[in-house]
Amino acid sequence: MSARELFSEESSAEVVAASFDGTPDPRLRRVVQSLVRHLHDFVKDVELTEAEWETAVDFLTRTGQICSETRQEFILLSDVLGLSMLVETVNHRTGGASTEQTVLGPFHVAASPARDLGTDIALDGKGTPCLVSGRVTGTDGTALAGARVDVWQTNEDGFYDVQQPDVQPPGNLRGIFTTDDDGRYWFRSVVPRYYPIPDDGPVGELLAATGRHPYRPAHLHFIVSAAGHRSVTTHVFVADSPYLDSDAVFGVKESLVRDVAEVDDPARAEAVGLPNPFRTLTFDLTLAREDEEPGSPTPATAGGPS
Ligand code: BEZ
Ligand code: FE
Repeated sequence: MSARELFSEESSAEVVAASFDGTPDPRLRRVVQSLVRHLHDFVKDVELTEAEWETAVDFLTRTGQICSETRQEFILLSDVLGLSMLVETVNHRTGGASTEQTVLGPFHVAASPARDLGTDIALDGKGTPCLVSGRVTGTDGTALAGARVDVWQTNEDGFYDVQQPDVQPPGNLRGIFTTDDDGRYWFRSVVPRYYPIPDDGPVGELLAATGRHPYRPAHLHFIVSAAGHRSVTTHVFVADSPYLDSDAVFGVKESLVRDVAEVDDPARAEAVGLPNPFRTLTFDLTLAREDEEPGSPTPATAGGPS
């Protein structure tokens, strides 16, 4: 028998962690050994019962079984545990210099239609009209002309087009815009609504069993990219929406909340091609250069996201 320590309640974490000492990739070794230590601490902390362990295995099995081409229950589980937002936040520290990130979510469509500035993306003509506009700049305030602004949102009933293929026209309330010479984008849309994340699977069971609701506050998704800059995946949240302080996936950041003010001005409504009155939502985005240190804006001209 070798002098290696045997498995016991006291030694479990160190014995199992040591079994990974020979992992050639140092990063994999660090991650697996830390995971083992935290898992063992967790079991000891709650004194996990065998029945609870079996429930957990069954829960994870069913989480995998419900996954498909169009449904990723493991990401949803990560979302409601706040893990997705933590990974996002740790990997995209902005130091206030560029627009904060938030979760991508499952309803992005890579092949979204390219649209001209000013297009009305509410293809079904329903909802409260809203002019969405903003400017994309670098952290030094320079306009980013030709930036790609990919947007998607729910209709007034709280559904994305891909959730209602028999109800909404394809491409409803989504599109890809290109900023003008001054870095500006604008389009016509409707005010999005709060909605529940998919809660008819194991993640929904977890929320129900723990007394949590499945709702996300009203928001519009953005992925904004420009040559030589880090792209930003984010949302703008509607300031008076329910659930702003209890988002089921913890995606809300103060810097991303905007008023959706009413404009009652027939001449302006006619100029922008919307019925009077209409709402306006302004969301400027700031992108860091690829060679810029995260969280360190260019000296002297540093400007935070507006
Ligand atoms: C969304 O905002 O589309 C979303 C994000 C996380 C989970 C479910 C939906
Ligand atoms: Fe969403």
